[in-house]
Amino acid sequence: MRPALVLLAAAWALTASTISTQGLYDLVKRRLPSHAGNFVFTLTETNTSGAAERQNDEYAISCLNDAIAIEGNSLSALATGLRRYFTDVAHEDIYWFIGSRLDEAPSPLPRPNGMIKGKSVVPWRYYFNTVTFSYTAAFWSWSDWELELDWLALHGVNLPLAWVGFEKILLDVFLEANLTISEIMPFFSGPAFQAWNRFGNIQGSWGGELPMDWVNSQFELQKKILERMLELGMTPILPAFTGFVPRAIANVYPNASIVNGSRWEDFPSEYTNTTFLEPADPLFAHLQSRVVGKQIEYYGNITQFYTLDQYNENDPFSGGLSYLRNVTRGTWQSLKTANPAAVWVMQGWLFYSNSDFWSNERIEAYLSGIAEDSDMLILDLFSESQPQWQRTQSYYGKPWIWNQLHNYGGNMGLYGQIDNVTVNPIEALHESESLVGFGLTPEGQEGNEIIYTLLLDQAWSPVPINTTSYFRAWVRSRYGDKDCEVPEELYAAWEILRTTVYNNKNLTSNAVPKAIFELAPNITGLTNRTGHHPTTLHYPPSAVLRAWQSMYDAAKKDPELWSHPAYQHDIVDITRQVLSNEFLTRYEALLQTWTASSAANLTKLNTDDVLELLHTLNTLLATLPQFSLSPYLASARKLAPHNLPAVADFYVYDAVNQITWWGPNAEINDYASKSWAGLVGTYYFGRWEAFLGYLRTVTMGGYDDAVARQLVREAERKVLEVGLWGVGEERVREGVRGVLEQDVVPLVRELEG
Ligand SMILES: *[C@@H]1O[C@H](CO)[C@@H](O)[C@H](O)[C@H]1NC(C)=O
Ligand SMILES: *[C@@H]1O[C@H](CO)[C@@H](O)[C@H](O)[C@H]1NC(C)=O
Ligand SMILES: *[C@@H]1O[C@H](CO)[C@@H](O)[C@H](O)[C@H]1NC(C)=O
Ligand SMILES: *[C@@H]1O[C@H](CO)[C@@H](O)[C@H](O)[C@H]1NC(C)=O
Ligand SMILES: *[C@@H]1O[C@H](CO)[C@@H](O)[C@H](O)[C@H]1NC(C)=O
Ligand SMILES: *[C@@H]1O[C@H](CO)[C@@H](O)[C@H](O)[C@H]1NC(C)=O
Ligand SMILES: *[C@@H]1O[C@H](CO)[C@@H](O)[C@H](O)[C@H]1NC(C)=O
Ligand SMILES: *[C@@H]1O[C@H](CO)[C@@H](O)[C@H](O)[C@H]1NC(C)=O
Ligand SMILES: *[C@@H]1O[C@H](CO)[C@@H](O)[C@H](O)[C@H]1NC(C)=O
Ligand SMILES: *[C@@H]1O[C@H](CO)[C@@H](O)[C@H](O)[C@H]1NC(C)=O
Ligand SMILES: *[C@@H]1O[C@H](CO)[C@@H](O)[C@H](O)[C@H]1NC(C)=O
Ligand SMILES: *[C@@H]1O[C@H](CO)[C@@H](O)[C@H](O)[C@H]1NC(C)=O
Repeated sequence: MRPALVLLAAAWALTASTISTQGLYDLVKRRLPSHAGNFVFTLTETNTSGAAERQNDEYAISCLNDAIAIEGNSLSALATGLRRYFTDVAHEDIYWFIGSRLDEAPSPLPRPNGMIKGKSVVPWRYYFNTVTFSYTAAFWSWSDWELELDWLALHGVNLPLAWVGFEKILLDVFLEANLTISEIMPFFSGPAFQAWNRFGNIQGSWGGELPMDWVNSQFELQKKILERMLELGMTPILPAFTGFVPRAIANVYPNASIVNGSRWEDFPSEYTNTTFLEPADPLFAHLQSRVVGKQIEYYGNITQFYTLDQYNENDPFSGGLSYLRNVTRGTWQSLKTANPAAVWVMQGWLFYSNSDFWSNERIEAYLSGIAEDSDMLILDLFSESQPQWQRTQSYYGKPWIWNQLHNYGGNMGLYGQIDNVTVNPIEALHESESLVGFGLTPEGQEGNEIIYTLLLDQAWSPVPINTTSYFRAWVRSRYGDKDCEVPEELYAAWEILRTTVYNNKNLTSNAVPKAIFELAPNITGLTNRTGHHPTTLHYPPSAVLRAWQSMYDAAKKDPELWSHPAYQHDIVDITRQVLSNEFLTRYEALLQTWTASSAANLTKLNTDDVLELLHTLNTLLATLPQFSLSPYLASARKLAPHNLPAVADFYVYDAVNQITWWGPNAEINDYASKSWAGLVGTYYFGRWEAFLGYLRTVTMGGYDDAVARQLVREAERKVLEVGLWGVGEERVREGVRGVLEQDVVPLVRELEG
C-alpha cells in the first residue's frame, strides 16, 4: 500500500472533461508555429476505481490523419508524450542555453512507426531547490521563465517549487499585523540572496536595501508563472510562513514568544541570527493563516503543497525531543488550519548537512509532530550521493521524493553519476513504500544538462535506463540536421564522456568539481579537495582531451557544425574543461618549482604559462553569451525601472557579489564562482597576477601569508570597484571556430605531445 498522499493527488486531479488542453496547444504555437495544426491532444479519464494504487501518468502517441495524436491521462502525461514524439521520432529537443530546437523538425512531420506508449513509475516529478531561485533565476525575465516552464512540462515535471515574489505576500501580511514598512523592508535580503532569507539563514541586505519596485514586479511575474504552470499541468508548491520574522516584531508584540536563530556561516549577527517566532505562539498560527490565505486570495486555491523549511542549516533553539515535536506540531496545525488540504513539503538537506545535531532520535521526534504521514512530503535532497532515506527508514513513513542535487552554487565542471541516477532510484522504488517521486534539486541550473534529463526520463522507465543508448539518442537529437546525420566522432566524444566524467563511482568527491583558478590563489588547500565542492578530478584529464579531439574532428568532417548552436555550446564547454584541467597541472608544476627555488634563481620563475591560460580561456568563453558575465549583469540591470539608475546599480552589485564575495565581507567567498568571460579575464586573472607576482619575489621561507592575502584582496577590490561591466569580453567577433583554431589548437597539440 502506498501512502495516502497518492490518493490525494488523484482526488486533486480534476476529471478530464473539466481540464483544458489549451495550454499544450499554446505550447506548440510558441515553439513550433508552423505546425500549430499538426497535433491533437486528448485527455482520457483517469481510472479512479484503482485509485488505491499509485496514480501514474500514461500517454500514447499515434497518427490521426495528418496529425500526431497524443492521448494521456493528465496534462503532464500529454506534455511528456509530446517531447517523446520529438526525441524519438523527429529527433529534436528543447534545451537550456540554446533553447527550443523543436521547430527544426522536418516538415511534414515524420510519422511514428506504430503506437508509442509511456507510463511513469512515480506519480510526482519534482523540480528546483529553494536556492536555484537565487543562483539561477534571480534575474530571469518572463521569456526566460517561459522557456524554463516549457522545458519542465516537456520533461514531465508536475511538481515545481514556486518561490518568485514571496516578499510581496510577507510584506502585506506583516503590514496587516501592524508592522511598518520601515520595520519590514530591512528584513528582506537583496535580489540575489532571497533564498537564504526565505530559509531564515540571513536577514537584511548589504550594499543597499531591497527596493519596493522589486517586491511588486516579482509579484506580477509570479502571477504569470503560476498561471502557466497550471496550464501546463504542474501543481506549484507555494511558500508558507516559517516563523522567521523582522526583529521589529518585538516592538509590536512585546509578549511574542521569539528566539534568536543560530548564526549561519560566518555572517555578522547583524545579517544572521534571524528572529524566530515559536510555532506554539498563537501569533504564529495567525500569520500562517494570513500567508496562506493571502496567496489563495491572490492566486486562487491552486495547490495543496507548501514549502516550509525552518532549520535548513539553522539549528533549533533546543534539541529536546519534546521541543522538536512541539515545533512541528504547532507548525503543522497552523498549516492545516490555514488550508485543510495542505501538505508540508520540506527539504531533507539538514539531516545530512547538520547530521551532528540531527540524530535519528531527533529526526523521528521532529517528524512525529505531524500526526498524518500524508500531510508531509520530504525531499531527500542529495539522493545520488548522500541519501538519508535509508537511515531514517524512509522518513519514518512520510512520503518522500528521490532527488539528484548534482551541483553546488552553479559551479561549472563537467560531471555526472550515471549509475547512481539510473540504478539507485529504481532500487529505492522497490525498497521504499513511501517513495512517491523523482526530482531534481540543483543549487544552480548550469551545465551537464544530459544528467538532469536522464533522471527525469528515468521516472518513465521501470528498469534502469541503458545509458549507452541514451547518450547516443541524445547526440542524435542534439546535433542532427534535417537528415539526422551525425558524424560518428560526435557519438564517440560523448561515449568517452559517458564512461569518464559522467560516470563517477568514487563518491569521495560527489558533486560538480570546481576549477581552482576560480578560487582565491594560495600555496595550499586548492587542490585535492574532496566532498561536495571538490577540486579533485575523478577521471584522467586525457579523457576530456580525447573527447575534445573527437568533437573537433567532427567539425572537420562536417563544417556546418560550426554554426550549430549545440555544437558551439558543447565544444566551448569541453574546451573550458580542458583548459581548467591544464590550469591545475600548471599550477602544481609552478608550485613545485617555486618551492625548490632559492633567492638566487627565483627571478627565473615563469608565471606566464599559468596566466596565459586564463587569457586564452577568457577569449574562448567570450565567444558565447551563455559563458559570459555581461548578459547576466544586463539581465539584473534590466529589471530595474528605467528612471532609477541607482536601483539598477544595486541589482548589478548584488549579482556580482553573489558570484564573488557572497557576503558583505567575503563570508563564503567564491562559493558560486563561474567560468565566465569577464570574470576569468579580469577578476580571476587579476588575483592570480597579483599572487604569482608576489611568489616571484619571495622564496618559500620568506612567504608571508598575510601579505599574500592582502595582495589578493586588493586585486579583488580593484576589479569590483571599477565594476565588471563588459570588461574583458573582447574578440567575440572571431567566433568559436576562430578562437579554437588560433588559440586552442596549438595548445592542445602541446598537451598531446
Ligand atoms: C480500473 O482499475 C481497476 C483496478 O485496478 C481494474 O480492475 C479495472 O479493470 C480498470 N478499468 C478500466 C476501464 O481500465
Ligand atoms: C493592528 O492594529 C489594529 C488597530 O489597532 C487592530 O485592530 C488589529 O487587531 C491589529 N492587528 C493585529 C494582527 O494585531
Ligand atoms: C504582555 O504581558 C504582560 C504580563 O502578562 C501583560 O500585562 C501585557 O498586557 C501584555 N502585553 C500585550 C501587548 O499583550
Ligand atoms: C548567533 O547564534 C550563535 C549560535 O549559532 C550564538 O552563538 C550567538 O550568540 C548568536 N548571536 C546573537 C546576537 O544572538
Ligand atoms: C510541548 O507542548 C506540550 C503541550 O502543549 C507542553 O506541555 C510541553 O511543555 C511542551 N514542551 C516544550 C519543551 O515546549
Ligand atoms: C482548497 O481546495 C481544497 C480541495 O478542493 C479543499 O480541500 C480546501 O479546503 C481548499 N482550501 C481553502 C482554504 O479553501
Ligand atoms: C553510486 O553508484 C556506485 C556505483 O557506480 C555505487 O557503488 C554506490 O553505492 C552508489 N552510491 C549511492 C549513494 O547509492
Ligand atoms: C545498452 O545498449 C547498448 C547499445 O544499444 C547495448 O550494446 C548494450 O548491450 C546495452 N546494455 C545493456 C546492459 O543492456
Ligand atoms: C577515491 O578518491 C579518493 C580521493 O581522491 C582517493 O584517495 C581514493 O584512493 C579513491 N578510491 C578509490 C577506490 O579509487
Ligand atoms: C594531490 O593528489 C595527487 C594525486 O594523489 C598528488 O600527486 C599531489 O601531490 C596532490 N597535491 C597536493 C597539493 O597535495
Ligand atoms: C632553482 O633551482 C632549484 C634547484 O636546482 C630548482 O629545483 C628550481 O626549479 C629552480 N627554480 C627556477 C625558477 O628555475
Ligand atoms: C590559504 O589557505 C589557508 C588555509 O585555508 C589560509 O589560512 C590562508 O590564509 C590562505 N592564504 C591566502 C593567501 O589566501
